[in-house]
Amino acid sequence: MTRTVPVQTSQATYSVHVGAGVLSSLNQIVRDAAPKAQRIHAVIDTGVPSEIIERTLGNLTLDGYVVSRSSITPSEDVKITETWLSVLGDAANARLERSDLVIAIGGGIVGDIAGFVAASYRRGLAVVQCPTTLLAMVDASVGGKTGVNLASESGLLKNAIGAFHQPAAVIADTNTLGSLSPRVFRAGIAECVKHSMLSADFGDADLANWMQTTEQGILDQDPAVLTEFVSRNVAVKAEVVKTDEHETSTGDMGRALLNLGHTFAHAFETLPGVRAQTGDDATPIMHGEAVALGLLCAATLGERIGKASGLTEPLRDRLSALGLPTRCEGLENTQAIIARMAHDKKAQSGQIRFVVPVAAGRCRVVRDVPEDAVVAALDTIREG
Ligand code: GLY
Repeated sequence: MTRTVPVQTSQATYSVHVGAGVLSSLNQIVRDAAPKAQRIHAVIDTGVPSEIIERTLGNLTLDGYVVSRSSITPSEDVKITETWLSVLGDAANARLERSDLVIAIGGGIVGDIAGFVAASYRRGLAVVQCPTTLLAMVDASVGGKTGVNLASESGLLKNAIGAFHQPAAVIADTNTLGSLSPRVFRAGIAECVKHSMLSADFGDADLANWMQTTEQGILDQDPAVLTEFVSRNVAVKAEVVKTDEHETSTGDMGRALLNLGHTFAHAFETLPGVRAQTGDDATPIMHGEAVALGLLCAATLGERIGKASGLTEPLRDRLSALGLPTRCEGLENTQAIIARMAHDKKAQSGQIRFVVPVAAGRCRVVRDVPEDAVVAALDTIREG
């Protein structure tokens, strides 16, 4: 079973193809996405099994494309300008022209770098995103955010350099999820929990309930369940992106809502010594794990400032049932965490903007949050 989710933006309208085995349609999708392309530069995640890569690129070669590649072993430390420049150099060495194509095969970090290469090489060429992690399928590959981190005196600034560059198509082959470690798969579920906390305003009021009743099928990676799971999450993201493509809304809605849990999460990810309690080797903390913890902080924050009640403990139970962390070590230095959050690129005039749940399935952006509420939010996940 395959599903196609349309994404409409001012820059482009494109399809997200979801299902078991959809990667076998890549050649046709490439022909539609870049009809004049002769050369394809593939940006490859070394974590993707080589048989998937060789089969996919081999099929393109058989179809007459000249295929070149850059390989990246993803981490936040390699998601930097040097890697972007190196891939640009590989694309230039492969003599890519404006009518040619970049494809990304891998997780969100590889997709973000490949997308930024496509946005910037010769002022922009088409990119087809082939996400192979759950997180990349439901979030990073959809909506056109591309970029790299920037090293600064105060540490790595996440995604501080980049561009909006919508893909020409996205191919989310759920068969690739079977090669992920359970920890990486679960980390992606955190973004889906995030979507379910805001989906009532974006066309899917039932998502949280469906995820809860279908939890075992999700964790077991039942193929039909995965197709529905991924496509419903992509549809929510597409609906948010449609309303505020460039995140310029200054109200309490818009694309900034997708930052739910992320103001906290980005601080946790970039502070040394932060470890999630996951039951297995949890160092360093993964993005999705940091998001799970950030969601709990956001729910507590919403309760402390009187926007909602009774959401935090059911959320903690849901995250635990999905194998996501709900406690964290290394958060002793509250002022360092607040300083990192103030430095986040989503802060405005140094003022931290938070997204908090206001009801089941609904969130809003809030400003002027008192520090004691932020401390209480951190306390909800502090170990000990
Ligand atoms: N990942 C957040 C966004 O796409 O806006």
